[in-house]
Amino acid sequence: PRSVIIKGTGSYTPQKALTNNDLSKFVDTSDEWIFTRTGIRERRIAGEGETSSSMGAEAGKRAIEDAGLTPEEIDLVIVGTMTPDMPFPSTACLVQDKIGIRNAMSFDVEAACSGFVYIMEIACGLLQTGRYKNALIIGSETLSPVLDWTDRTTCVLFGDGAGAAVLSHAEEGDESGILDFIIGSDGSKADMLHQPGGGCAIPATVESLETRQHFLKMRGQEVFKQAVRVMGQAASEILEQNGIKPDQLKCVIPHQANIRIIESISSRLHIPIERFFLNLDKYGNTSAASIPIALDEAARAGRLEAGDYILIVAFGAGLTWGATLLRW
Ligand code: ACO
Repeated sequence: PRSVIIKGTGSYTPQKALTNNDLSKFVDTSDEWIFTRTGIRERRIAGEGETSSSMGAEAGKRAIEDAGLTPEEIDLVIVGTMTPDMPFPSTACLVQDKIGIRNAMSFDVEAACSGFVYIMEIACGLLQTGRYKNALIIGSETLSPVLDWTDRTTCVLFGDGAGAAVLSHAEEGDESGILDFIIGSDGSKADMLHQPGGGCAIPATVESLETRQHFLKMRGQEVFKQAVRVMGQAASEILEQNGIKPDQLKCVIPHQANIRIIESISSRLHIPIERFFLNLDKYGNTSAASIPIALDEAARAGRLEAGDYILIVAFGAGLTWGATLLRW
């Protein structure tokens, strides 16, 4: 099969920033606690009318433009999100309409913070059938409405935003391309990080709302340990199976959850922290949007050059995890 390249990237984050100091006015926390434990200084919060589909459409338009394509040329739209606009129709269909894409298969994938790596793998597979030419893949999350703003152990960690990429076939002889994936899941740890209410198991009732079932719940320390374990393992396996040494990597784009998780992976893999692209200080954890926002910012900042080996690695609720290795 022909190799698949990232032809363009785009991102969109809401205007409204919420700083750690802003948060300390309504929950018992401080800038010092949040920054030293997580590396986060502020996060963006969706404003009036901003949703996963509207932010996703903005990021998507920017990626299509960056790829030098028009919406008519996109024939596959996949959105990774755990915060869709509504249970159905899919956010991908809403995005497809907002961008004016007319001839595409559109659907959502829910793999929490690993969503973008999952949809990269799916889009690559579909492009390699030869039946699709240009895939628009988007990670978009509006986490602010599912956060319990009275729970300091979770609300300080997350933010809203969207990032996108256009994947297409590489030209003949092109050295760049997406080389490999390692992806996994472990549903036995589903309750480590979840939003129990809102689906068919716990539909919205007065009681379920009063008992706050519709908010994100997390056992932070356990998630931390699992994140270091599964991301470290996926990253070292993918390097090993492709014969790439850590010092050949020009840039690592990790899921932006917590600087201490990223530092642990940096020392475990013997990859200097300077090679990791970091923007979690500005956005917090934006779940499936975190990697494509970082990818877009890294590309626009000139951190990625043709021929560079780049590692992307993520983990999230499910549990889910994934790593991909590519040449820019
Ligand atoms: N401000 C002040 N104090 C706080 C806050 C806060 N925002 N949150 C918790 N504390 C307190 C706790 O109550 C606790 O107090 P106690 O000792 O009196 O009980 C103390 O701080 C220490 O709490 P810990 O939970 O031990 O703190 P820890 O160092 O483990 O940091 C954190 C917590 C930041 C949540 C960390 O465990 C973490 O990052 N875990 C991973 C989370 C993550 O990445 N989740 C995203 C997964 S991706 C996805 O799919 C969405």
